[in-house]
Parts: sequence; structure tokens; C-alpha cells
Amino acid sequence: MERTLVLIKPDGIQRGLVGEIVARLERKGLRMCAARFLQAGRALAETHYAPHRERPFFPGLIAFLTSGPILAMVWEGPGAIAQVRGLMGATDPAQATPGSIRGDLALTIGNNLIHGSDGPESAAREIGLFFQPDDLVEYRRAADGWAHGEG
Ligand code: RTP
Ligand code: MG
Repeated sequence: MERTLVLIKPDGIQRGLVGEIVARLERKGLRMCAARFLQAGRALAETHYAPHRERPFFPGLIAFLTSGPILAMVWEGPGAIAQVRGLMGATDPAQATPGSIRGDLALTIGNNLIHGSDGPESAAREIGLFFQPDDLVEYRRAADGWAHGEG
């Protein structure tokens, strides 16, 4: 079982695509274990994207992420990190495969709707930025009837 941080970015909120994006993750079989609707401040956005701090697009990326409310979520499932990355599609929607979230719903790299952690270390770090350990729901198979055949 693996967990990953997903953000629906301000463009996704503004365009009313929360239901569409959440539905795709649900239909894949992943399950949500935490969610928080918030307006990210500059400090949180800069910490979240700290690995990109030296990149030329960093100031614009921070301005974008803080331009409106976002939906932060933790999703889990076997291979959840790579599964979410696959559902998202390539970073640049112009390169993203049709059928992916960015391929179907976005046009430009600066407005690409969704963030997903890119590895186990970044997932752990990013989940910790948005959530406390107690925020994460622990499902019990007998109670919720949900299973991936493991865990
Ligand atoms: P994200 O972190 O948001 O999930 O996106 P990602 O892994 O697919 O892409 P990443 O390389 O981590 O870049 C983070 C975000 O920065 C913006 N970006 N702009 N102009 C550019 O060349 C450029 N490259 C990246 C994108 O909005 C990307 O989602
Ligand atoms: Mg990234």
C-alpha cells in the first residue's frame, strides 16, 4: 500500500473540475484518505515546490499555486504514486496522452490542473506539509468492504 499527495490546482477549482478529477482517481480504484480545501500561502507553496527553487519558472509557479484555493488530498493504493502520475499525464498538456487528466482537460504547462508526488520521499515530505498524521483515515477492510487484495 502506498500513499501520494494530490493537489487540484487553482485552475481546476476555478474551472469546476474537482468532481471530474476526483471521479477519475476513484474509478481507477484508488481511495482518498485525507482532503483539505485551502488557500495556500507563499511559504507553503515555496516549501512544497522547494526542489524547483532555482528553476526559471519557479516565481510563476508560486504565483499560480497561490492564486486561488486548492484541494489537497492524500490517495492510497498499490503503486499509488505511479498510478496517479499515469492518470495525470505528462507535465506539459501538449505532450500528455489523450485519456489522461492533463491530456483531456488542460492546454498549457502553466495551467496543468493537478499535482501528484513523484516518488516515495517526495510523497512523505509533501503529505507532511499539508496534513497531520491524525488527518489520514485508516480503512479497515471488514468495515468498509474495500480491498485491493493486499494490506
Ligand atoms: P507537479 O509537480 O505540479 O505535479 O508537476 P510535474 O511533477 O508533472 O512537473 P514538475 O517538473 O514537478 O514541475 C512542477 C510544475 O512546474 C511547472 N513547470 N513549468 N515552464 C516550464 O518549463 C515548466 N516546467 C514545469 C508546471 O506547472 C509543473 O506542473
Ligand atoms: Mg512535480
